Amino acid sequence: MSKICEITGLTQSQQDKWPLSHSLMIGESKLKMENISASSTEELSKDILEFVSKQEVSKSVTERKEGIIKHLKRRFDIKFRGSKLTTFGSSKSGLGLRNGDVDLCLEFSGEKPKKVLNKIARMLRDDGMEDVTLIAHAKVPIVKFVDQRSKIPIDISINNSLAIYNTNLLKTYSDCDSRVRPFILAIKQWALHRGICNAAYGTFSSYAWTLIALHSLQTSNPPVVPNIQDGSKRTLKVIDGTEYDITMSDKPTELLMDKNSQNIGELLINFFESFALNWPWDEKVLSIRSGKNITRNSKKWKQQKPFIIDAVIDEHNVRLGKHSLPVEDPFDTMHDLSRVLRPDGAMEIREEFLRAFKILSEGGDWRKLTETKFPELVNDTANTDLFEDLRKMESQDVKEILEDLQSELSVLESEIEVRNSERKNAIDMSKALRKNAELQKAENKIANTLKPRREKIEQVKKQRDSVNNNYIPVHWIENEMSKVFQRLTEDVDLMRAPSLQKEKELFSWFFELQSMHEHSKKTRELHGEFKKLLREQKTALFELDNVKESGKDISVLGDYANFDDLAHRLLLEMNPMHTEKRKLKREIGRLEAWLRISGRKGGAKKNHHNKKRSKKNNYSKKRDNINVAEVKSRAAAGGSLSLSDLDTLLSSGGLSSITKEQTKEDGNRKKKSRKKNFSPHRGNRGRSKKGM
Ligand code: UTP
Ligand code: MG
Repeated sequence: MSKICEITGLTQSQQDKWPLSHSLMIGESKLKMENISASSTEELSKDILEFVSKQEVSKSVTERKEGIIKHLKRRFDIKFRGSKLTTFGSSKSGLGLRNGDVDLCLEFSGEKPKKVLNKIARMLRDDGMEDVTLIAHAKVPIVKFVDQRSKIPIDISINNSLAIYNTNLLKTYSDCDSRVRPFILAIKQWALHRGICNAAYGTFSSYAWTLIALHSLQTSNPPVVPNIQDGSKRTLKVIDGTEYDITMSDKPTELLMDKNSQNIGELLINFFESFALNWPWDEKVLSIRSGKNITRNSKKWKQQKPFIIDAVIDEHNVRLGKHSLPVEDPFDTMHDLSRVLRPDGAMEIREEFLRAFKILSEGGDWRKLTETKFPELVNDTANTDLFEDLRKMESQDVKEILEDLQSELSVLESEIEVRNSERKNAIDMSKALRKNAELQKAENKIANTLKPRREKIEQVKKQRDSVNNNYIPVHWIENEMSKVFQRLTEDVDLMRAPSLQKEKELFSWFFELQSMHEHSKKTRELHGEFKKLLREQKTALFELDNVKESGKDISVLGDYANFDDLAHRLLLEMNPMHTEKRKLKREIGRLEAWLRISGRKGGAKKNHHNKKRSKKNNYSKKRDNINVAEVKSRAAAGGSLSLSDLDTLLSSGGLSSITKEQTKEDGNRKKKSRKKNFSPHRGNRGRSKKGM
């Protein structure tokens, strides 16, 4: 049974985990600022500036980042027409550590954001990117992935316009004074290495720490930076139906009255002193929008239950009441950055402020201050040197690996080609069979019209003939009628007047012609219809012949659905082959680039031995050995492993092999992994789904 403190309710292990906070709570804290000499603040400043100088991203990594962004832009231009890809976050504001991520925002209104993110995740997986994760339920949903060559982590969000504005705000603050960037980077480095800069694990995000650091520079005496959101002329912007005040001063430096001349060491000590001795969050909200602490009451951000201490005591309760350590977002003023905190995380933050102050007040240095607490939470894997593994190799070996990869690529390409042509054939067959089926349908349709039309023709013919068997053309009758009519109605020469008998005959002939005219008209109509039907019948027979002609007899080959299925299966088979092909091409490109560079600089070691070796075995072994060693060391350090890493691991002796080998190799690592079990990140915080 562990001993529980009667005053705080903390268990013994919790007291051991947070000794400084515990002493403070029971009123036994001995923290106070010793006299810090000017030389020690200068020493601290020097160390910080040296650390900052190492945060410059190398040219090759910058190029790599730009290359990835360019590649994504091209892909998105095709997939999401009219979209725009913008960089934001620390890689835009310059307030990032060397291994910081790249934050990208895709502005696109054609589809729902979650659907777009799903499509992006699929696209990235197809492109062979590592660790593609879709975080759909966060406040701002994102797709995360890691560029496999450089290990640069990349986050993509959709229509995250406010983040683009706040990045601009942070950049403007950074440009106000040359101390802003080193100061913020120092706080971020401390928070990262002390395990309190990870929103997914229930501590503040990197962005929150940037705001906290800036707030300290606004509230120093005199301030280092002004409040650049001040001003009478306000700029309002509606985003997703909500109006935001995104006012920002054009001339921020003119807003400062007095000049602060403290060095970064002093500013950092003041920062930790103010949090350790005057914990602001009992009564206040940190607000860079206001340039000062504002009261919880004015913000209506009363701390809600359960409070931090109650939540950590209750071992089942992983939830923390709202507004525990409130930090207001500068534009989205309803957003409290402390909403991601979990009880252990909030306790850790308090403990780390106290520890930092204790170290500095006792004359501790920058290295001690930022000692790594949880190595697994620090991304030190970003490969800033794209050719690191090749530098140690002889150029002949690199050439041999290159040849090996090229021949692997050509085998793979021909395998893909074979499948491609098989697939094309399958698609052609399916199309032909489908067309045949369609033709059969058309043939039946035409044939079905023939019989009824034939019957109709007979019927019309019969009718026509029954109306007038001696068919006399209508135009002849009409001519004759007009002649008779003329004779009957012409002026009569009295000397040659026709006899009555003759006149009667003419009248009777006229009436007969009239009757004949009617019959003949009817016959003409029926004859017309008869001819039309005959024409239709002829056309139908002609079409039928055509259809029969074009439909080759391929139905014996089977059903088109089988060929569709085959085409689909071949496509699925080819997908991973394409991924592998892209990987090989990338690696070939890298080796070629290295050989070009090293050829120019004479950088790679030259192979003077000119030995004839068993080619295949040597290249593969070298490459595999490098891979295996890297994978094993990552596994031993508790790092993330991809499927291909696991494959490498299993084919080289499995997990048991690392425990034996790695422990022999590196005693420190063993210590680290033991430490992991006691870390707060493996407890409730690590396991909980909340806030992820
Ligand atoms: P990050 O947490 O990645 O911060 O958020 P960062 O400044 O880029 O730090 P590192 O270097 O990667 O560690 C990226 C951006 O997302 C927006 C901010 O614009 C931030 O700069 N963001 C983040 C918000 O607007 N709100 C949040 O709660 C978090
Ligand atoms: Mg970032």
